[in-house]
Amino acid sequence: MKAIVYTEYGSPDVLHMGEVAKPIPKENEVLVKVHATTVSYGSLAARTFGKMPPHEFNMPFLFWFGARIAFGWNKPKNPILGIEFSGVVEAVGQAVTTYKPGEAVFGYRGQGMACFAEYVTMPADGLLAHKPDTVSHAEAATIPYGALTALTLLRRLNLQPGQKVLIHGASGAIGSFMVQIAKQMGAEVTGTCGTRRMDFVKALGADRVIDYSREDFTQHSTKYDLIIDVLGRSSFNQCKRVLTPKGIYFPVSFKFTEVRQMLWTSRFGGQKVFLGLSDEKPADMQTLKSMIEAGTLKGYVDRTFPLEQVVEAHRYYESGQRSGNVILTVA
Ligand SMILES: NC(=O)c1ccc[n+]([C@@H]2O[C@H](COP(=O)([O-])OP(=O)(O)OC[C@H]3O[C@@H](n4cnc5c(N)ncnc54)[C@H](OP(=O)(O)O)[C@@H]3O)[C@@H](O)[C@H]2O)c1
Repeated sequence: MKAIVYTEYGSPDVLHMGEVAKPIPKENEVLVKVHATTVSYGSLAARTFGKMPPHEFNMPFLFWFGARIAFGWNKPKNPILGIEFSGVVEAVGQAVTTYKPGEAVFGYRGQGMACFAEYVTMPADGLLAHKPDTVSHAEAATIPYGALTALTLLRRLNLQPGQKVLIHGASGAIGSFMVQIAKQMGAEVTGTCGTRRMDFVKALGADRVIDYSREDFTQHSTKYDLIIDVLGRSSFNQCKRVLTPKGIYFPVSFKFTEVRQMLWTSRFGGQKVFLGLSDEKPADMQTLKSMIEAGTLKGYVDRTFPLEQVVEAHRYYESGQRSGNVILTVA
């Protein structure tokens, strides 16, 4: 089958079309003909990881070390990128009863990657669900990574209706779903983003949008019950003055400083630093499917490229022009 392969870390030019063996589904797996996949933070990190020094990685050194071993120290271990997909079941293993050939599905392979290809396999009881008929393959492919991360992290924060939430980085893959899910939970949501994406974040349902390149939300008078910083570009010390007395600061990306602050603030009753890692479960894919069907969760497609134009797609992703997701169409 055709797949985009890479054998060394580097710029988008390391990606090229290759011929690889078509995967064979095991007893409990489905074989999916991929229709759409996304260019995402995960694929970008995996493509460049060998050249990324620890201080440029948005997580503590130990995470960088673990990821470097997982991705491959000197060259990539897994030659095919792509963390999420939407497609059609081509074949199923003997033990699979929940999916049938011809059914449309969408799913998340995460660090297992391999979605920049004509076919992928998935465990039938893994992060996989039937694609709602109301959305295209392109839209469905945008949902798993960002929405699973947003859903599982927000769930742990016990958000209450009426609470004021600020999402710093509301226009990206995780932030755009956090806005939608936090609104659904009844929160009053402020999102920050770059100038180009102000209308996009408003369209996601945010009550208020701040252009982070022009205004510093930590200097405003509004106080928040929860501040979520997707890239960890702010700090707890800066945010204290705009947090309510029992407010929570949650950097989705963090360093060792925030680990120390979380341990310290957990001993007292006031403002706290919360840290969490997404822990998506197969049932969460069914939750996302129900939310899509109910019209409360939407994936946004900015631009679509055919798989062959993966280099242009990665360049466009890196250019910072997108509002929503960059899609690769496969079939
Ligand atoms: N804790 C966990 O379990 C977990 C799980 C997955 C990922 N992550 C972390 O999440 C991050 C990737 O998130 P993502 O996929 O949503 O990334 P993304 O799609 O690239 O979105 C990044 C967001 O940050 C905004 N941004 C860019 N520069 C900024 C700045 N200087 N100040 C404030 N905001 C800025 C962007 O706004 P504009 O584009 O509008 O400028 C955009 O909204 C990575 O650091 C990864 O390590 C954490």
